[in-house]
Amino acid sequence: MARITASVYTSHVPAIGAAIDLGKTHEPYWQPVFKGYEYSRQWMTDNPPDVIFLVYNDHATAFSLDLIPTFAIGTAAEYQPADEGWGPRPVPVVKGHPELASHIAQSVIQQDFDLTIVNKMAVDHGLTVPLSLMCGELDPKKDAWPCPVIPFAVNVVQYPVPSGQRCFALGQAIRKAVESYDDDLNVHIWGTGGMSHQLQGARAGLINREWDNAWLDQMIADPAACAATPHIDYVREAGSEGIELVMWLIARGAMADVADKNHPISVRRRFYHVPASNTAVGHLILEN
Ligand code: DHB
Ligand code: FE
Repeated sequence: MARITASVYTSHVPAIGAAIDLGKTHEPYWQPVFKGYEYSRQWMTDNPPDVIFLVYNDHATAFSLDLIPTFAIGTAAEYQPADEGWGPRPVPVVKGHPELASHIAQSVIQQDFDLTIVNKMAVDHGLTVPLSLMCGELDPKKDAWPCPVIPFAVNVVQYPVPSGQRCFALGQAIRKAVESYDDDLNVHIWGTGGMSHQLQGARAGLINREWDNAWLDQMIADPAACAATPHIDYVREAGSEGIELVMWLIARGAMADVADKNHPISVRRRFYHVPASNTAVGHLILEN
């Protein structure tokens, strides 16, 4: 059967993508950020998944105010990198896994989560920046991402947004779905976005290092309690865009210790850096 062996968590700051694409990763401002992911890129090479289930948010790129799915699963064969205003990022096309994605859609919808099924969608920095951080620089003409990706878009942009509790329960349903797939696939689940940042209004530029790190501690050690954090706490403490963190709870809910207390998980990597652009960068790798 397929199984989830690890989860990866990372911020998705678009300026990180631009720094990679414009060859600025060695500049003093960016060096500490990319250094923080060196271990993780090696870990990806040493622990290659067959499929990445990538939880992210679209930033009014594929969706607009015309159509606002709370949870959308990509079932397509491929996804083009989006043009976010400066042309599409020069990264490889993202190949999907329609068979596993369709199976997960069937299983998770039957577990009473109303997913939107998406057969055509461009993917923005929410998805491509985490891939670049973990997989390194790739030439779209010669290279491919290391494996197929199932994009799973969560609405954290337009209110009302889903609760951490619902995201955590959804992660548990995704785990059941993956484990009921017959093929022997090694699946990684990624939760992306965050940590504290606010891009708008009077508090633009807000970063809360203390709250972020306390949230990480609890998310690792007691995810059920962390999932009970009300959405207003994210907004108050981590800024309006800090709400992106509920997506991490989907990946956390899919981990082995949540399904079975006798199955401890291990923290393979933890990294935190302030700031990158307007955002506090947080990153974790958890293994089952
Ligand atoms: C920034 C962060 C984001 O999450 C985003 O979607 C856009 C911009 C930033 O820090 O600049
Ligand atoms: Fe964002």
